Amino acid sequence: MLEKLGRNFPCWCGSGRKYKSCHMAFDERIAEHKNRGDIVPRHKMIKNEAQIAKIRESCKINVAVLDAVAEQIREGMPTSEIDRIVYDTTTKMGGIPAPLHYQGFPYSVCTSVNEQVCHGFPSDKVILRSGDIVNVDCSTILDGYFSDSSRMFMIGDVSPEKRRLVEVTKECVELGLKQVKPWGYLGDMGQAVNDHAKANGFSVVRDIGGHGVGLEFHEDPFVSYVTQRGTDMLLVPGMIFTIEPMVNMGTCLYDVSAENGWEITTRDGKPSAQWEIMVLVTEDGHEVLSW
Ligand code: MF3
Ligand code: CO
Repeated sequence: MLEKLGRNFPCWCGSGRKYKSCHMAFDERIAEHKNRGDIVPRHKMIKNEAQIAKIRESCKINVAVLDAVAEQIREGMPTSEIDRIVYDTTTKMGGIPAPLHYQGFPYSVCTSVNEQVCHGFPSDKVILRSGDIVNVDCSTILDGYFSDSSRMFMIGDVSPEKRRLVEVTKECVELGLKQVKPWGYLGDMGQAVNDHAKANGFSVVRDIGGHGVGLEFHEDPFVSYVTQRGTDMLLVPGMIFTIEPMVNMGTCLYDVSAENGWEITTRDGKPSAQWEIMVLVTEDGHEVLSW
């Protein structure tokens, strides 16, 4: 069907340009990969310039919110205070915190402390203590465009082992990011992340991962870190997704809170770390949109 889109018709991407001078050669290249058996992205995963510009604006807020948290986070602070900082900073800048009411999630941000893997509820009962490591996961909606990234914070005096977990997890993201390029594979990134975590004696959570993002909070593809180089989805310019591995000091197994169905903790009670970036595949590599 799509091959039959006339050369002079407006391109499917919404750029307003003629198909032949926009995504026609691109579609031919994707078709070649598909014929070889590759998993290829659908058109709806490819953002055009106008969409990318709007998504960048959303990311600016998301980064500013994380910067505000970075400035104010301190020992003795309840994580509910982080929720307030995120809500206030986001709304003052004209955005909406994406987690709030998302599938019933009751807060503006996820704050996951120590053995919490992700989706931690901010609470006035959770007070940050010296030695804690905490992930603050922010997501923003601006005019319907989504951004999503997270950082780790180390409170006071953090043990060398926990510090190493936080640093290695950040390196995992950086090494994964280096693999992101057009006409490469999502598995190139996934394997780089997993190899580095494993080489350091850590484990990577398997079935919670990253995702496409931009026009919705969570879009295809699912972004795994247990995939092999040269496999998984083909990466092409215009795709936007997150790299957000959860790296555990001990077992990769986890439990979901029976109480609220959201909060996730390591089964062995050992610490877990996560950094999340949002990345755009460009014509000649990648661009980090939010961190
Ligand atoms: N920010 C999380 C992510 O990285 C999403 C959490 S869902 C929420 O995908 F509802 F908890 F916000
Ligand atoms: Co995410």
